[in-house]
Amino acid sequence: MNENETTTPGESGALVSARGGAVEQSHGEAVDLFENPGLPPHVHRLADDDEKAARRAERQVATMFGLSMLGALVFVVAYFVVPDEATFYFPGIGIASTQNTVLGLSLGISILMIGLGAVHWAKTLMPDTEMVEERHQQASSPAERAKAVAAVTSGATVAQLPRRPLITYSLVGALGLFALPLGLQVAGSLGPTDVEELKHTIWDLSANEGKPIRLMRDPEMTPIKLEDVTNGSVFHVMPETLQKYIDEGKHVLEEKAKAAVILIRLDPNLIKVQKARDWGVDGVVAYSKICTHVGCAVGLYEQQTHHLLCPCHQSTFDLTQDCTVIFGPAKRALPQLKIQVDDAGYLVATQGFDQPVGPSFWERLK
Ligand code: FES
Repeated sequence: MNENETTTPGESGALVSARGGAVEQSHGEAVDLFENPGLPPHVHRLADDDEKAARRAERQVATMFGLSMLGALVFVVAYFVVPDEATFYFPGIGIASTQNTVLGLSLGISILMIGLGAVHWAKTLMPDTEMVEERHQQASSPAERAKAVAAVTSGATVAQLPRRPLITYSLVGALGLFALPLGLQVAGSLGPTDVEELKHTIWDLSANEGKPIRLMRDPEMTPIKLEDVTNGSVFHVMPETLQKYIDEGKHVLEEKAKAAVILIRLDPNLIKVQKARDWGVDGVVAYSKICTHVGCAVGLYEQQTHHLLCPCHQSTFDLTQDCTVIFGPAKRALPQLKIQVDDAGYLVATQGFDQPVGPSFWERLK
């Protein structure tokens, strides 16, 4: 109570605030200001008195639980039947994955119906008697509160806070501003602000005045001839445009991270996808090395099975199937780079990637 409030003696010696606020009796116990209106009269529900209504409510609850079962079954069926790569156009959102949508909807309906059924059951059929649970006083006694305030005040006095306001204010400022870097990191890690830049890499011919771009060994940055790539061999590759960026003194780390490519030769007859064959040369194929799960480098090649493995979460890509995902959390094939041989016999890229490289959330940009 502050000094502007007045108090008047109430019944039984209680002090009543002029603002109608808290009331304390002279011996410290709180009393109610207003008369307790009590509980509203109990109204029987339809199902309490009418057996037909009760049966109807029972059927409604069972129907909701049945819809939940249906949702769960749809989830299981869709998990096996709807192909991973199937998509559809969702107005206002764009291209969406059919499987993810069906799985999300069916699971959502399943859990929602369990909740609705339980609530309807409780509201119509479960016991409807009002219960009152008495609570003990939760506030500490005035003596305990005074002791706590005295402890804090004495701590502040010992630390000289009242005498040194400069420290108090600068500490409050420091703690307040300390939240900024934390919030900034969270906001900054939500993804790039300019999503357009994710569509382009320095493999785009525009980075080389429209001319084909040579594939260079990484980190030696030497060009690669077709015959250098023997059966089963693996090259880690960067575009020759990278050297230009370095020579110009540009900061190229982000471009380098997007441009990493893995170059492999396998028997052309093993490549089962025509497009993948056409985009390679004599069984030599080039794919983005950036995993479509969360962007680790797909650096492990199993020569016998022709699988590329991401060491982070074991996503596995089948080279013979245009690097489609055959295991693990990645949801999208590795993007392929179209290559040919130039007049001097060196491997060149004749166009950039046909889709954004890296984690699959970028696929919405297609
Ligand atoms: Fe490759 Fe997760 S980043 S599997």
